[in-house]
Amino acid sequence: MIHTVIHSSARDVAEAVALFLAECLQEDPGLVLGLPTGRTPVPMYRALVRLHRQGHADFSSATTFNLDEFVGLPAGHPGSYRAFMQRHLFAHVNLNSAQTHLPHGGAANPRAEAARYDAAIGAAGGLDIAILGIGANGHIGFNEPAASLPARTNVVALRPGTRAANAAAFGGRASRVPVRAISMGVGTILSARHVLLLATGADKADIVAKALRGPVTTRVPASLLQLHPRAAVVLDRAAAKKLTSYC
Ligand code: GLP
Repeated sequence: MIHTVIHSSARDVAEAVALFLAECLQEDPGLVLGLPTGRTPVPMYRALVRLHRQGHADFSSATTFNLDEFVGLPAGHPGSYRAFMQRHLFAHVNLNSAQTHLPHGGAANPRAEAARYDAAIGAAGGLDIAILGIGANGHIGFNEPAASLPARTNVVALRPGTRAANAAAFGGRASRVPVRAISMGVGTILSARHVLLLATGADKADIVAKALRGPVTTRVPASLLQLHPRAAVVLDRAAAKKLTSYC
């Protein structure tokens, strides 16, 4: 069973994970981190920035690879995940910008870009810690539920619900959210030495219970984490509330 930690609030989840990452960086300054976007990790990034300002989190030797990026947005588009990361983390800590990686969503050949990205992760020695959020349908990165899932980083089609969930950064219009993304593959994610999935809020309770207690299936991509020997899930009480009743 996946190691599960339940905190009383989303804020406590953020503080605990940020502190854990700061400690990992102290032990191994050259960490290779897999990083998520979405609403869930925002408080964790805020806590990490605070720890950095207090001198407790040094990113100078770290490398980051984000899970995913939209296809087709021009560089610097405010809805891009690169812009999100800049806003919430990169602009505020001492990461070397050459060591912060996201797929290039504007690449002329997105499939070739996906392959290049996967190779770059491999060349960096793979991910030490992959930090993940979970989509309402169980997606991790942008790996949507399907009969089969790409193992390696690939170009993926986004479901209408996923585009709607990402509409905020596109003026609230789901129709403006790109239809495709480049996402780390589930094999790339599961190759990380440690995986940490964060989920907060009551609207994640059902999918968290399915992913952690249900069968392992590509129809719930996060359920594949049950196969990882060192995966942990960090939840607030609201996101954990269906765990005990699930059967
Ligand atoms: C997007 C990201 C996912 C993230 C998900 C959940 O789809 N590509 O990596 O886990 O959103 O987002 P939120 O944390 O806002 O619920």
